[in-house]
Amino acid sequence: MDKGLVKLAPSILSADFAHLGKHVGEAEQAGADRIHVDVIDGHFVPNISLGIPIVASLRRVTRLPLEIHLMISDPDVFLDAFTEAGSDAFLVHWEGNNNLHRTLQRVKGLGKRVSVVINPATPAAVLEEILRDVDQVVVMTVNPGFGHQPFIHTTLPKIRRVRQMIDEIKRGCDLEVDGGIDPATAPLVVAAGANVLVAGSAIFSAGDGVVAAMERLRAAANRALT
Ligand code: DX5
Ligand code: ZN
Repeated sequence: MDKGLVKLAPSILSADFAHLGKHVGEAEQAGADRIHVDVIDGHFVPNISLGIPIVASLRRVTRLPLEIHLMISDPDVFLDAFTEAGSDAFLVHWEGNNNLHRTLQRVKGLGKRVSVVINPATPAAVLEEILRDVDQVVVMTVNPGFGHQPFIHTTLPKIRRVRQMIDEIKRGCDLEVDGGIDPATAPLVVAAGANVLVAGSAIFSAGDGVVAAMERLRAAANRALT
């Protein structure tokens, strides 16, 4: 991977929702490539988070692409509403979806970018039949549902394996990682082959603000490329 190609996707799950527009504006100013929106329904994973009105509000305050990470039991039901609210991309889990290919095609039919997401316990091999149909693979580096969790180091060999598969089968496909990404873990995942980093708490819970936190993360990520 070339130097400077690591993209940052701040996850607003850890933002202060009373100041969401300000936080997202700071992330945009600091060079965020996209905003990651975690949608959680209390069924697919044991938590509840943001929904369609938040996406509509964000659409009015940022030009950055909004990628919607759907941690919900029936993603197909909500694709249209999220699209109307201004979403640019959907991240759909492999787990629990009996008709994943159909979901991916529906997202493409809406003219949006589509990603397949795999949990820490899911092997890279499941991607083989679906890789050609996606714009991005997301490897969860924590169990989905919550911010502020520690990075699971055993996902590193899988990131390497997915990078290998992408290079063989679908060059140009993004490889995003999500969970526990901070200045200590960023160089590890980039060295393993990730080129898009989601980060929530490392960006929005930093004591010295969003801009400084993003600079720190970018510098750490780029260290792995030098
Ligand atoms: C977890 C979410 C993540 C989360 C990451 O289920 O998918 O996007 O916000 O948060 P951090 O970066 O704090 O691990
Ligand atoms: Zn996420």
